Amino acid sequence: AMNAFVTKLMAKMTVDEKIGQLNLVTPGGAVTGSVVSSDVDSKIRKGAVGGLFGITGPAKIRSIQEIAVNNSRLHIPLIFGLDVIHGHQTTFPIPLALSCSWDMPLIERSARIAATEATADGLNWAFSPMVDIARDPRWGRIAEGGGEDPYLGSQIAKAMVKGYQGSDLSKDNTLIACVKHYALYGAAEAGRDYNTTDMSRIKMYQYYLPPYKAAIDAGVGSVMTSFNEVDAVPATGSKFLMNDVLRKQWGFNGLLVTDYTAINEMVNHGVGDLQTVSAMSLNASVDMDMVGEGFLTTLKKSLQEGKVTAKQIDDACRRILEAKYKLGLFADPYRYCNEQRATTEILSAGNRKAAREIAAHSFVLLKNQNQVLPLQKNGTIALIGPLAESKRNMLGTWSVGGDPYKSVSVLEGMKNVAGNNVNVLYAKGANISDDAAFAKRVNAFGPEIEPEARSSEQLLSEALDVANKADVIVAVLGEAADMTGEASSMANIALQESQENLLKALVKTGKPVVLVLFNGRPMTLGWENDHVNAILDVWFGGTEAGNAIADVLFGAYNPSGKITATFPRSVGQIPIYYNYKNTGRPYHNEEFAKFKSNYLDMPNDPLYPFGYGLSYTSFSYSNISLSKTNLQGNETLQATVNVTNTGKYAGEEAVQLYISDPVATVTRSVKELKGFQKISLQPGESKAVTFIITPEELKFYNTALAYVWEPGEFIVHIGTNSSDVKSASINWKK
Ligand code: IFM
Repeated sequence: AMNAFVTKLMAKMTVDEKIGQLNLVTPGGAVTGSVVSSDVDSKIRKGAVGGLFGITGPAKIRSIQEIAVNNSRLHIPLIFGLDVIHGHQTTFPIPLALSCSWDMPLIERSARIAATEATADGLNWAFSPMVDIARDPRWGRIAEGGGEDPYLGSQIAKAMVKGYQGSDLSKDNTLIACVKHYALYGAAEAGRDYNTTDMSRIKMYQYYLPPYKAAIDAGVGSVMTSFNEVDAVPATGSKFLMNDVLRKQWGFNGLLVTDYTAINEMVNHGVGDLQTVSAMSLNASVDMDMVGEGFLTTLKKSLQEGKVTAKQIDDACRRILEAKYKLGLFADPYRYCNEQRATTEILSAGNRKAAREIAAHSFVLLKNQNQVLPLQKNGTIALIGPLAESKRNMLGTWSVGGDPYKSVSVLEGMKNVAGNNVNVLYAKGANISDDAAFAKRVNAFGPEIEPEARSSEQLLSEALDVANKADVIVAVLGEAADMTGEASSMANIALQESQENLLKALVKTGKPVVLVLFNGRPMTLGWENDHVNAILDVWFGGTEAGNAIADVLFGAYNPSGKITATFPRSVGQIPIYYNYKNTGRPYHNEEFAKFKSNYLDMPNDPLYPFGYGLSYTSFSYSNISLSKTNLQGNETLQATVNVTNTGKYAGEEAVQLYISDPVATVTRSVKELKGFQKISLQPGESKAVTFIITPEELKFYNTALAYVWEPGEFIVHIGTNSSDVKSASINWKK
């Protein structure tokens, strides 16, 4: 039916109207480039717009949809998109934080709620999930992805797509997801946003492409190109990436949209003028041009000059119309403009409750010396730091739908949860940063680093007064919300000096210090790790973060998050990741060894490894028991450990399976994540955790880029993080 409908409609369309469908505009609201669309209304009337993004609200969206439906010649409805990235108005933790939950049903639920709210707000297209693998915490957009691992990233990609799209796109509470940024956007050199990416095909296939592919396999409706170049061709014009891999190898037949003015930016990359690069993108099977209007202004000329074909324009137009058809927009262009839903389904008590629960699951306990946490519900707590009272910084990057002032601050959360026997004293203590020029850059979207009338000395002395009255100090420090995110790369990923000084002064008081850390990236925390008693990484936790943080600090929820991106000791170790390769001169963190692959001035290993995170309780792992040690062909192996809760609190644990392949025709990572299970255990309780391993888990890309496994020895590792595992060897024959 869809095919016949679209064919019939396209038979009526002029070339201009077809090209018009390929045009995605924004009237402002989500401007992340140097241009904004102009004359939007008149272009819609002319049939020169296929979709619009950057606005919300059923009434507003209805009024624009009416222009397309009532005033354009063929009455074709528009598709309405937005960066719905981690929740919509009810904002969940940033994606990097969500990934630390290792809890796929929970992540799916966050996307489901986001889709429900976004569709109630007039939208039907979310520019998410962002699944770019990142091994470089300098890159600001590491905050927006699922970390460094392709296996975990793939599971997250699937969960998000399922959550957004549900099983029926034409329902009024599901929308089209958009996996991005295709491809390799997270591998920008030096962690600098938009920078050059260059890597071997084998590395690409093995580590960077799997999450995009997982989203395709899960049926994602759209894909967004990336700004970077790949293999000396801008990704937005790359036939290899889009025609060969995405369309042919992976069979993706959905809507392919560019990133913001990414076609135009190919001119700066140096591969031709606007007409040339626009034709290049269409030739590479891009369907929709975001904001830049390269398609709108040049494709007809390119058609006349034989630089693109009518079929290419038809194919792109068809895929856009099909997306609209699947959303049910031809049946009812106002399907997502239900004002009643907007009032009942957005920021509902239920959604806020879910946000609180989900946030608590994303926090990572990095240190907890002498069980200083959970806090007791009596005595005096000094809550100190520039992020303790700030609402502005609760939501984190890309939370366009969320209102930070509707969020719960840490101070509010502490007061809500503490009960009558706790006295919470607050002082700001320091600015997020004292560097005015830096603060101005961070504040591009609003006053995250607030102007401060008091001097640093005054702030510090107020903080020390409060600290001296308290039994325990909770220091709420870290990054402002837009110190990560797009165009927020940092060369120094430590705490800002103003906050470091404050923390040092607090530690000097001799009182126990708990650091509650806001951040969108792994930071360098060597001094903090050595000197404070506890560190709880709370990322940017969203609308209900303040309550969730208090829940965790007071023990109502026992933290179970584990980091999904390695925390380096120093920026000099970057890129740093757990699935590295051995080299010919391997080094395993023994003493420094000359002529081995190590540093003179620090160990190779990170401060906190991938998969690491503590709990208020402790878990012990038995040795691995294997169903067999010699296998052949398509047999399956069961690898089991018993995990016991040996502490005092009920808790959850992400049990992780890694596999190594010591000998192959290509060099392999020292280990690769191949499974995980999140379990919960009462104090004293044990559970057997079994992983089923098949040849699928042994596969890798060889030099011919075939996905194969080779017989021989494999080592199965199961443990609590990537560097603390039990291991057992097996032999697997063809
Ligand atoms: O979706 C985003 C993308 O991630 C970065 N550039 C702008 C797009 C639309 O807002």
